Amino acid sequence: MRFTVAIDGPAAAGKGTIGRAVAAEFSFAHLDTGLLYRAVGARVLAGEPAQQAAEDLQPQDLADPEALRTPDVAQAASKVAVIPEVRAALLDFQRAFATRVGGAVLDGRDIGTVICPHAEVKLFVTASAEVRAKRRLDELADRGIEAEYATVLADVRARDARDADRATAPMRAAEDALVLDTSALSVDDAVAAAIAAVRAKRDA
Ligand code: DC
Repeated sequence: MRFTVAIDGPAAAGKGTIGRAVAAEFSFAHLDTGLLYRAVGARVLAGEPAQQAAEDLQPQDLADPEALRTPDVAQAASKVAVIPEVRAALLDFQRAFATRVGGAVLDGRDIGTVICPHAEVKLFVTASAEVRAKRRLDELADRGIEAEYATVLADVRARDARDADRATAPMRAAEDALVLDTSALSVDDAVAAAIAAVRAKRDA
C-alpha cells in the first residue's frame, strides 16, 4: 500500500510532533525533510559550497539530528534552501521516500505543493510567530541552550520571510490542504485532528 501524508508549515508550528504521531498511529515511515536542508546547511557552515554539499549528502550526515537542531544551523538551512540546485539535488530522495510501500509522512515547506502534489492527505500546520517563538525558546531551554525571546522571535520571522518569499518552492499551503492553526490548540487536539483527517481519507 502506498499512502502519502504531506505536512507543511513554518518553523515550530508543530509539524514534527504531528508527523511523528500520525506515523506512529498508522505505522507509516516519517521523514523530517528540514533535516536534509539542515545537514546541507551544516556542511556549508563547515566550508563546503552549497550545491556540492547537497549532491554529496550521505546518510551519516543525518545520524545526529540533535546536532542539527541549533539556531545557527536553522538559519544556514533556510539560506541554502533558496538555491534551486540544492532543492533539485534533494528531490529524488524525498519522492522515493514518499512512495515507499507501507505509507509515508513527510514534513517540510513544499511537500504538498512540489514534492508530493498527489499526496493522499495534505496538512498545513501553522501558529502565530509569537507562539512559535515561545515554543522554540522552551524547546531550546529543555536542551540546555540559553536564548532570548526577542532573538528567537526575530529568527522565526526572518526564516518565515525567507522561506515564504523565495522564488523556488516557497512555503505555502496547497490549495487542497487542511489548515491546522495550533496557536490555541493543545498538542493532543492538533494530533487528534490530523489523525482524523488521515483516517477519513484512508477509510474512504
Ligand atoms: O523544518 P526545519 O525548521 O527543520 O527546516 C529548516 C529550513 O529548511 C527551513 O527554514 C527551510 C528549509 N526547508 C525547506 O526549504 N523545505 C523543506 N521541505 C524543509 C525545510
